[in-house]
Amino acid sequence: MAKIEIKENIDMFRCPICGKRMETDDLKSIVCLNKHCFDLSKKGYVNFLLSPVKTDYDKKMFASRRIIFDSGFFDPMMEQVSELIIEKAHNKYVDKIKILDAGCGEGSHLAQLISNLCGETGANIQGVGIDISKEGIQIAARKYPESIWCVANLAKTPFTDKQFNMILNILSPSNYAEFNRIIKEDGILVKIVPGDNYLKELRSAFYKQTDKGTYSNERVVKLFSDKFEILAVRQILYTMTVKENIEHLVKMTPLSWGAADEKIQKVLDYGLNNITVDLSVILGKKKS
Ligand SMILES: C[S@@+](CC[C@H](N)C(=O)[O-])C[C@H]1O[C@@H](n2cnc3c(N)ncnc32)[C@H](O)[C@@H]1O
Repeated sequence: MAKIEIKENIDMFRCPICGKRMETDDLKSIVCLNKHCFDLSKKGYVNFLLSPVKTDYDKKMFASRRIIFDSGFFDPMMEQVSELIIEKAHNKYVDKIKILDAGCGEGSHLAQLISNLCGETGANIQGVGIDISKEGIQIAARKYPESIWCVANLAKTPFTDKQFNMILNILSPSNYAEFNRIIKEDGILVKIVPGDNYLKELRSAFYKQTDKGTYSNERVVKLFSDKFEILAVRQILYTMTVKENIEHLVKMTPLSWGAADEKIQKVLDYGLNNITVDLSVILGKKKS
């Protein structure tokens, strides 16, 4: 039950308003020394946002993301990411470690990675996921109560300094100053970004001959290397069939947000045979 994990790990938290340490006595809220109070929901997550944030990442989108995840669409990606982490950082994961997923969505990637790493290394891992979308965190907390889930902004996290052995950041925005503050000195940052051909069949169907018809992650990789020292970059490339899940694929990706309705409808009517998954995983550590 996540509430117990939160109590056991209460030292991990600091108030996102004043930065003071936090306490929880009644398992109903987390309160800082200046009495800023954040509710611990019955569903087992903490909401650290001062006011709700309106976002396009809603319940329907996360439900579709979960269906696509459960169909195995991301399995090759998570296998290769786990292998890379074990190859590059295995010796770091012998004691109890903490992994933060910053921008965790509905939580499946974090749960899968923990399961893969525990299986391969026997490491004792406490997972922590944060996302600005309450809907995503609610879905995550329901399915994976063994991890700690927080509605929070990754640019102003509710964590004390040097907390995490690893920060995961999958297809989500980054805040390198904040990651640098909360990662341990020898911690690892794992960022996954789309490659040039990620979901290229959808991109082409929606945006052919427009300025959104192509994509490059060059700028994102450059920014990462300005802020963290790169240990490895690996491309993950495979194709999947998504016949009966085409509607969920379309709904789960922000690529659909700017597309014309008739182009979306055409994809739903005619389907796509194969879809390309092209991602770059970047592993980094703090600069010395
Ligand atoms: C494309 S989704 C990826 C979600 C998840 N990592 C996955 O791969 O399924 C991007 C996520 O970043 C989250 N996000 C965007 N801005 C954020 C912020 N400032 N703080 C925390 N999460 C944020 C969104 O709510 C959304 O869940």
